[in-house]
Amino acid sequence: MLNTIIKLVHSDYCLKKMGYNFLENLSSVREVNLVENKDGIKTIIKRDCEGWYPQTLVENEILEKFSGLDMLPRKILFKEDVSEGIVQEYCPFGGYVLSYFLEEEYIQGKKYNYEQLSAKEEQKLINLVNNLHEEGYVRMEIERASNFIITPDGLLYYIDSGSCAKKDDPDFKDLMKKDLVSLDNLLKKSQGVKNDL
Ligand SMILES: Nc1ncnc2c1ncn2[C@@H]1O[C@H](COP(=O)(O)OP(=O)(O)O)[C@@H](O)[C@H]1O
Ligand SMILES: [Mg+2]
Repeated sequence: MLNTIIKLVHSDYCLKKMGYNFLENLSSVREVNLVENKDGIKTIIKRDCEGWYPQTLVENEILEKFSGLDMLPRKILFKEDVSEGIVQEYCPFGGYVLSYFLEEEYIQGKKYNYEQLSAKEEQKLINLVNNLHEEGYVRMEIERASNFIITPDGLLYYIDSGSCAKKDDPDFKDLMKKDLVSLDNLLKKSQGVKNDL
């Protein structure tokens, strides 16, 4: 509890120094914050520290590389060293310094709970998985519904690519197979909802 309070106060302080208004903490795993930028627009800021599995680095790489795919949030800003005297955020209990900073588009909607997807959204998801696999990214954690947001218009967004592993991972092929099984399960659930209607 104390840890959480200190982290919240700290996030608020560091983000303010960079010109953002901290609104909400969205993850218990890493630093994922909903903020308001200088123009009053809500965006998402994700931060990591060196030495941990660099989720923010991988996510930035993917958002940059696949920026044309409309299932992914738009990348706004990435900083690799935020220590520049402005944002050296130190978590006193974790004992680390947050050094990677990714700002991305805030997707408004709700967490996907395997609601029915339109045929178009299903095809977009299949294309996304194929595209990432072809470029050497696997372990998409498709099975986690919390890695998707669905908009009120029924558009599905994949908002967390931070867990992806790359070609040099010794389990690359197995991870790819696991993704395909997860994709299949997700599509079956979406179809199941359709058949129940
Ligand atoms: N671009 C985004 N737009 C809207 N909500 C987001 C976005 N990125 C993350 N979130 C929300 O924050 C939660 C945690 O973010 P995520 O990247 O999945 O981190 P982690 O899995 O490490 O907790 C997500 O489940 C989602 O609800
Ligand atoms: Mg996640």
